Amino acid sequence: MSSGLSVGVVGATGAVGNEILGLLLHRGWPILKLVAFGSSRSIGRPIKFGSKELAIENFDSDHNHGLDILFFATDSEVSRRFAVKSASLSTLVIDNSSAFRMEPDVPLVIPEINLGVVRPDQWLIANPNCSTIILLMAVAPLRALGRIRRILVSTYQSASGAGRDAMVELEESTRAYLNGEVFEPKVMPHPYAFNIFSHNSEIDESGYNGEEVKMILETRKILGDAEILVNPTCVRVPVLRSHSESITVEFEGPAPRIDEVRRVLSEFSGVRVVDDRERSYFPMPIDANGGGDVLVGRIRQDASNPNAISLFACGDQLLKGAALNAVQIAEGLFDRFGL
Ligand SMILES: NC(=O)c1ccc[n+]([C@@H]2O[C@H](COP(=O)([O-])OP(=O)(O)OC[C@H]3O[C@@H](n4cnc5c(N)ncnc54)[C@H](OP(=O)(O)O)[C@@H]3O)[C@@H](O)[C@H]2O)c1
Repeated sequence: MSSGLSVGVVGATGAVGNEILGLLLHRGWPILKLVAFGSSRSIGRPIKFGSKELAIENFDSDHNHGLDILFFATDSEVSRRFAVKSASLSTLVIDNSSAFRMEPDVPLVIPEINLGVVRPDQWLIANPNCSTIILLMAVAPLRALGRIRRILVSTYQSASGAGRDAMVELEESTRAYLNGEVFEPKVMPHPYAFNIFSHNSEIDESGYNGEEVKMILETRKILGDAEILVNPTCVRVPVLRSHSESITVEFEGPAPRIDEVRRVLSEFSGVRVVDDRERSYFPMPIDANGGGDVLVGRIRQDASNPNAISLFACGDQLLKGAALNAVQIAEGLFDRFGL
């Protein structure tokens, strides 16, 4: 990496932006200048970066603020408004929103899987959907054992996947529930405490919600396999942090041996096998929280299909599902192309 980098984070006050700041600090990025941007609501508000205090600034896309790299951790509408212009000014832009993920000329990258698709002239890179990243970290290594034909996946998604305000709503509604008070949901469409509900994205005419459609389309793009079949069911659970996923992977031929599955998973960077049948110890959100690895366990032959295996995975979706993946993309590109 270069000896001094100028870095900006748009959405620094949000759930993902805040994690990006923490990663830049703890991964020892050689930061020359750091600018934290927020909405008009936050301009001037102090934000911590290690021992320093930064003031949130207004983002003006007409110049690139002298930045080498800009992370967007904002919703799609904000990214759509600013990110392309920033990338055209030769700032490397990594966008966490869904705005550009399916654009044919925008690479959609999980570094351990497909960093190689990025060309040196591409300045705008999309970070995939969090559930898709966790799914593919568990599934992509299995391609070494045979062609994958179909993936069935059910998600158990945490509140932080919907941002800072959803975490607050889960905490406040849980407190209200325990105190026997009435709580009117403001962020989520349904009561969140002690409840589960279908993912809060819109359902289309096919019956799939927006999160499920992202998982289908993004899986095909990242794996470079337009034929792969994906059937997701996405659900919110009252967990603050880390998504979990129950996954069945069907191969074109007979399923590989379970010891081989364990081997390829444990050799894959960014995956940790947690599969202790004796102690019934398998991936859990509390063990995934704050870590960069996707935990994979419950590895077993599918009793209903000789061509399939089943798994259970957990990953911190604010880290590997968002901030860490974004930071790793930048680090990978610095290594490949320099800066
Ligand atoms: N949360 C996850 O696990 C996750 C995972 C993968 C991808 N993503 C994606 O990452 C993005 C950020 O998600 P999040 O969960 O971090 O959301 P969040 O907690 O709601 O934060 C949103 C951020 O956007 C900022 N913002 C809003 N309008 C802005 C504007 N006009 N100019 C500059 N900043 C603006 C907000 O600033 P103020 O504080 O000033 O309002 C806040 O910092 C979204 O696209 C989301 O879909 C999230």
